[in-house]
Amino acid sequence: MSNILVIRSAATGDASISNTLIDAYLAATPGATVVDRDLDADPVPHVTSRSLAGIGRQAPEGTDFATTRALADMLIAEVFAADTIVIGLPLYNFGIPSTLKSWFDYVLRAGTTFQYTATGPEGLVKGKKAIIAHARAGQYDDTAGIALAVPHLKSLLGFMGVTDVEVVTAEGLAFGPEAAAAAITGATAKIAALAK
Ligand SMILES: Cc1cc2nc3c(=O)[nH]c(=O)nc-3n(C[C@H](O)[C@H](O)[C@H](O)COP(=O)(O)O)c2cc1C
Repeated sequence: MSNILVIRSAATGDASISNTLIDAYLAATPGATVVDRDLDADPVPHVTSRSLAGIGRQAPEGTDFATTRALADMLIAEVFAADTIVIGLPLYNFGIPSTLKSWFDYVLRAGTTFQYTATGPEGLVKGKKAIIAHARAGQYDDTAGIALAVPHLKSLLGFMGVTDVEVVTAEGLAFGPEAAAAAITGATAKIAALAK
């Protein structure tokens, strides 16, 4: 049986297309064990001077850091427990939502999810698959250096060792109702097919 970790980052709730794509994937994987983490309903705090040490390799003693440490440990445990990580990715001002960036700030921990070796960095989260459910108003070439969300997310995942990444994109959602419907239908079929 598969263990799926879902990370949702849309701020649009029931109207979210990235959430719709995630739900289509989950509907096509009956029987899976699912941890569904919605960063809109339950955001990971931004890293601040009060919390920074708590997300590091070794958190110092103290209540300021204990809460941060416990949350980071839980988020990291969810990653290691999953076989498949499904990430909802709205394009926000050409990048990833800040809620999703905060999640990575807690999860990318030296010595736990990656390490530096004599030959460079090594991801320690191995043998997992990631599926990115991407939604955006416009249409972009992800290699052109304008829309940076997909390449950034692949870098973050790759840094912790997750290199088997599928991207499903619903785009052109602001190009009129017909274009939007066609984009959503196509992306929904594509992500559901990945579950097979
Ligand atoms: C704050 C914000 C910034 C956005 N920036 C972009 C953008 O740079 N390019 C784009 O094509 N769409 C942009 N959009 C549109 C969203 O990507 C689009 O509405 C998408 O469907 C959002 O995902 P969701 O439906 O899962 O919420 C932006 C939306 C918001 C709310």
